[in-house]
Amino acid sequence: MSIEIKALAPAQRNSCPKEYSFGATFSDHMFTQEFDEGKGWHDALISPYHALTLDPSAAVFHYSQEIFEGLKAYRKPDGGINLFRPLDNIKRFNRSAERMVMPKVDEALHLDAIKSLVQLDQAWVPNEQGASLYIRPTMIATTAKLGLGASTSYCHFIITGPAGSYFSGGLTPISVYVADELRRAVKGGVGEAKTGGNYAASLYASEEVKKQGYSQVLWLDAIEGKYIEEVGAMNICFVYEGKHIYTPELSGSILPGITRDSILKIAPTLGYEITEMYLDIETVLQDIKSGKITEVFGCGTAAVISPVGKLGFKGEDFVINDNQTGPVAKALYDELTGIQYGTREDKFGWIE
Ligand code: COI
Repeated sequence: MSIEIKALAPAQRNSCPKEYSFGATFSDHMFTQEFDEGKGWHDALISPYHALTLDPSAAVFHYSQEIFEGLKAYRKPDGGINLFRPLDNIKRFNRSAERMVMPKVDEALHLDAIKSLVQLDQAWVPNEQGASLYIRPTMIATTAKLGLGASTSYCHFIITGPAGSYFSGGLTPISVYVADELRRAVKGGVGEAKTGGNYAASLYASEEVKKQGYSQVLWLDAIEGKYIEEVGAMNICFVYEGKHIYTPELSGSILPGITRDSILKIAPTLGYEITEMYLDIETVLQDIKSGKITEVFGCGTAAVISPVGKLGFKGEDFVINDNQTGPVAKALYDELTGIQYGTREDKFGWIE
């Protein structure tokens, strides 16, 4: 199947505005394709950004049968554009689809859709340092029915928009509160799928910690309430003695982050040791207190790397690295963004 393109005339197109914030401004065009049981995927189309018309009984509104992704296009110094690990992203989209009983998309078509969209809206890829074009592939269940069961029709769409720092402070450390009672996801559930319900489930605790002056929630496992899983909507890393990075191993309830995986691969090339293992909160708090843990940071596509300067737990605050951005987070940030923006060698073949 090929993609039909109904583009705006060049004179009608907009370029990237001077002011924008993450996820609030969208480019001129979008991709859509439809799925119907018996017919498969059809009507792949790139057209001007528009609202979708759905029946109010569409399954996505009631039972959250939905998946999404996040990846970015980066402006290179020579004016060209880099996509970072798009195929890994598409593969994860299809794994999420399988878990949510949704049809897989053709990898080559999805990649073609992203590339064509970015090419058409290239004027929207920002030039400013640290900015990029955020790409949001999504799939929703569109069958009009309230009976619970997998939908028989779906819409797959991709929208894009310019993005600066996800957190207003950029690489400035954030403060985090450990959720001791509320849980984000459970092993055996859908925590490792990128589905909207996981994010909806996180909102209550996020709002609660904000009222107490913290920016994000640190999530513990739902079975023992003891092992660290994620921070906000990011994976998490702990640096011991400035050289050994630990990140929770994927347990089924943790999102297999592409930034997390990139850090696992980059860190040894920068001389850091890296270990994936379960880390329990009590040990981590002791190790922050004793100074063994020298840095903590979250990592994800939207935020890239986000240092954690303060961890609150049961009313007590644990300060990390004097609430400053540490050298390991900075070195990883520089290497990763260097590869993404094309100013450092892409040793891993991640750039398309
Ligand atoms: C991403 O990092 O791309 C995400 O999907 C997180 C989202 C909450 C912005």
